Amino acid sequence: MQKINSVIPFNKPWITDLEEAYVLDALKSSRLSGDGPYTHKVEEAFRRRFGIERFLLTSSGTDALELAFLVAKIEPGDEVITPSFTFSSTVNAFMLRGAVPVFCDIRPDTMNLDEKKIEALITPKTKAIVTVDYAGIPCDMDPILTLADAHQLLVIEDAAQSVGSTYKGRPCGLLGHMGCYSFHETKNFCMGEGGAAIFTTQEDLREAEMIREKGTNRKEVLKGLVDKYTWHRVGSSFLPSDLLAALLAAQLERYEEIFDRRMAVWQTYYDGLAQAQEQRWLKRPVVPAYCTHNAHMFNIQLPTPKDRDELMSKLKERGISTYICYVPLHSAPLGLNLGESSCPVTEDLGARTLRLPLYAQMEPADALRIVHEITDILGRR
Ligand SMILES: Cc1ncc(COP(=O)(O)O)c(C=O)c1O
Repeated sequence: MQKINSVIPFNKPWITDLEEAYVLDALKSSRLSGDGPYTHKVEEAFRRRFGIERFLLTSSGTDALELAFLVAKIEPGDEVITPSFTFSSTVNAFMLRGAVPVFCDIRPDTMNLDEKKIEALITPKTKAIVTVDYAGIPCDMDPILTLADAHQLLVIEDAAQSVGSTYKGRPCGLLGHMGCYSFHETKNFCMGEGGAAIFTTQEDLREAEMIREKGTNRKEVLKGLVDKYTWHRVGSSFLPSDLLAALLAAQLERYEEIFDRRMAVWQTYYDGLAQAQEQRWLKRPVVPAYCTHNAHMFNIQLPTPKDRDELMSKLKERGISTYICYVPLHSAPLGLNLGESSCPVTEDLGARTLRLPLYAQMEPADALRIVHEITDILGRR
């Protein structure tokens, strides 16, 4: 039984006997390096559930993005259009190759790239657009893909947060030319640190397989296509140990249970905060009709930055951990050195958004308690 004033953490991975059994089995098998039986189990799970054929498990979502930009052959001086309202990894991945971010503003409803503001930022140097499915809600991809097609640009989908979400019936991760997932401890399905890169052409997949395996064609030996492998191109090592893949394989077997429990918490917040929205004390998330979401996050927008910061500290006093989402990249210390960007919506929402606790083991009663605390705090002002 939950004590009334007990602390509610921001996030907590849900580990059961199944995760323990799979990890122990992997440990005992002495097959600890990458691309082993549990990695294949994970690939198979994504093939069966989402129809994803070209899926490479990586050691993080960050690595998946770096791998994608290596395959994309992004070069020094290339420009990449990206939201500023994202995690640093989205932008590091191409800046490591010498490419330059061009920050595009976001939509006030979904806090995703504003598809209407992209075209004005395209120059002869633009090579790619990186879309971020913030809070597990995809961008409006069709107009973005049409624009990319017209200007011959690559679209790389940062789907770190959107495993299990869909856009017009298509799974997130498969919406652009390449996609990247994260299985970090804070994500819906976790392996501690981990991710995946998804490709839509066989050519890109083969290239990525070699980069992920130190520039060699080792994957072809594992597939039984050749009997020895050697160095073919400059590469790196982005493979996670099969031990971690075992953890993720167990999480994916519990997909429905994890998904449904997160959704129950999300819906409790959504319904419970309806009245606070009617009073104009806050705004709840917007899920456009073109998509379904995976209950990755629950954000609220407060009327002013001061309201957000006060609510955050008062919830903390009441044992509830919340988080501010992102400091927009263009206004972070590194971003300020990159020159001017015009992202007024990003700046405004970056200062007014608060992310509430959400994890699968949370009880809807915990969410209800948070709803009551928020309503009480905002009603007393
Ligand atoms: C939008 C976004 N991109 C990339 C990443 C990086 O993923 P990872 O932490 O697995 O490296 C994250 C993770 O927090 C993310 O939220």
